[in-house]
Amino acid sequence: MCGIIGYAGREQAAPILLDGLERMEYRGYDSAGVAVRSETAGLQVKKTKGRLQALADMTHGGADLEGTLGIGHTRWATHGEPNDINAHPHVSENGRIALVHNGIIENYLELKEHLQRQGVTFVSDTDSEVVAQLLEFHYNECGSMLEAVGRCLRRIEGSYAFGIICSDYPNALIAARKDSPLILGYGEHGNFIASDVTAIIKYTRDVAYMDDGEIAVITPESIDVFDDEMSPVEKAHSVVDWDVSAAEKGGYPHFMFKEILEQPEAVRKTISPRIREGRVVLDDLHLTAEEARRFSRIFIIACGSSYHVGMISKYNWERLLRRPVEVCLASEFRYSDPLVDEDTLVIVISQSGETLDTMAAMREAKRRGGRTLAIVNVVGSSIAREADDVLYTWAGPEIAVATTKAYSTQLVLMDLVGLYLADLLGTVAREEYDAILAAAEALPEQMRQVLEHVEKLQYFASRYFNHDSIFFIGRNLDYALGMEGSLKLKEISYIHSEAYASGELKHGTISLIEPGTLVVALGLYTALFDKAMSNVVEVKARGAEVLAVTTESCRERMEKNADSVVAVPDTHPILQPSLGVIPLQLFAYYVALQRGCDIDKPRNLAKSVTVE
Ligand code: F6R
Repeated sequence: MCGIIGYAGREQAAPILLDGLERMEYRGYDSAGVAVRSETAGLQVKKTKGRLQALADMTHGGADLEGTLGIGHTRWATHGEPNDINAHPHVSENGRIALVHNGIIENYLELKEHLQRQGVTFVSDTDSEVVAQLLEFHYNECGSMLEAVGRCLRRIEGSYAFGIICSDYPNALIAARKDSPLILGYGEHGNFIASDVTAIIKYTRDVAYMDDGEIAVITPESIDVFDDEMSPVEKAHSVVDWDVSAAEKGGYPHFMFKEILEQPEAVRKTISPRIREGRVVLDDLHLTAEEARRFSRIFIIACGSSYHVGMISKYNWERLLRRPVEVCLASEFRYSDPLVDEDTLVIVISQSGETLDTMAAMREAKRRGGRTLAIVNVVGSSIAREADDVLYTWAGPEIAVATTKAYSTQLVLMDLVGLYLADLLGTVAREEYDAILAAAEALPEQMRQVLEHVEKLQYFASRYFNHDSIFFIGRNLDYALGMEGSLKLKEISYIHSEAYASGELKHGTISLIEPGTLVVALGLYTALFDKAMSNVVEVKARGAEVLAVTTESCRERMEKNADSVVAVPDTHPILQPSLGVIPLQLFAYYVALQRGCDIDKPRNLAKSVTVE
């Protein structure tokens, strides 16, 4: 979703801002803009609807804009259609204050009407412009920009990350945050703000994460942070442990393809520090056996693919922990009056750590006394900082909108956490524990073997890419995996697709199967392989074309009925989805490629969903 970058330094600001915005393009946007202040030209604002390239063309890559202080923004429309006027930065009526904003100002209409009554004229339909005008109002009143920002924040309701410059302040940029991420970057030739570390990683890895209610004043030499009562705050610095190459395509045609190939290494990095001397070691989880025994209820809360990880984990955890595990979509959970109390463990899964629904659901769970554990990929993200405990997936930056390596690392980390809890509770036999751990250690190498099927999946995609409706069927873990396969396909190829529990087909959906319908049948859960086979026969009898994904041990039997078969190595059943997902990701990727889709940035989607 929207991206923010700001720079106060000694270099020309505009090229740095454009470069940062380009690195955040993956988040999804529909318009972009920059505002730069210079001694001679004053406040210069350039913004436009459409791709960032248009903004770069307008400004000759930023070279036309003088000045070493500036802010930039990529917008994903919420209030007002995507057009040049609604694009950020927004400028106050007297042209002296420019502002970029991520988030939503909930009381903007009330504030707008109030300002209109004072004679202020608005040019855009956005909630953000209201803040620029309100700032001017308070600045005129008190004569200090910092004080004006403080007064403004006390009046607005909603979520925000702001970057603000004022023509009266040649060297200072002001930032503020509430419920929308904002990072401070300490560089050699200047300092930064950014909503996403990828925007500034080329210039610095020395960062600090702003907290809700904080205001920062950024100059070329210093960053001063204040709390909501304007008392100075000492920020702890963090060093980002990946470099710029991790967020670049490095010769691959798409980030999604690169990230699919990175999965064995990402999974290795996630699990290997957590397996020591034949035990799962979770140093960051502060949970005693006694506390674990108290949990009578476990919720897993997430959205999208992270929710699908939760679906698989439900099957695995119930098997390991012998306790009921409920998986909830965060957007449903938060308004469901959930049955959470002090004896409830709430697992929150999020790649970005910023998904608003997931964040709100977690806060609701905490408010009711639940103990929260977050599984997050982005270090320092809001969910990571607010959860009682956090375990990071070490997938590295994920740039493609469709998740692949983050999904795989979430899955394997959830398996380890499940195993750890089962051990604390004494619900897993020693042999089973050892077998799962040994299988987990072998997983990265087996994932590499599955990636050798790239050409086979490319061939199947060329055979099936013209279908306009595709069904994924499976039972138990395969059903949950089918949900992810179906989502991956539909989000990047725009083909309608559904995942069904195979046993449910005959209760309605089978009427949609007609000669030529493509069914992707998952037969990876070997305990129910015979049942999976019967369902393949059932859809074949109605004329379906079947592409099956199964294990090496079941391949021959599957080949007797399916039209096309991909087999992955056998592993412990709990871990089998980690291998089974790779052919589904590759299939989706190649189908989308054949159909000429914008794979890394599918239409209407954003990488980090920070609105409800
Ligand atoms: C699909 C996808 C999304 C995310 C969902 C949750 O490929 O990436 O469905 O999984 O938006 O995002 P996070 O995990 O960042 O909370």
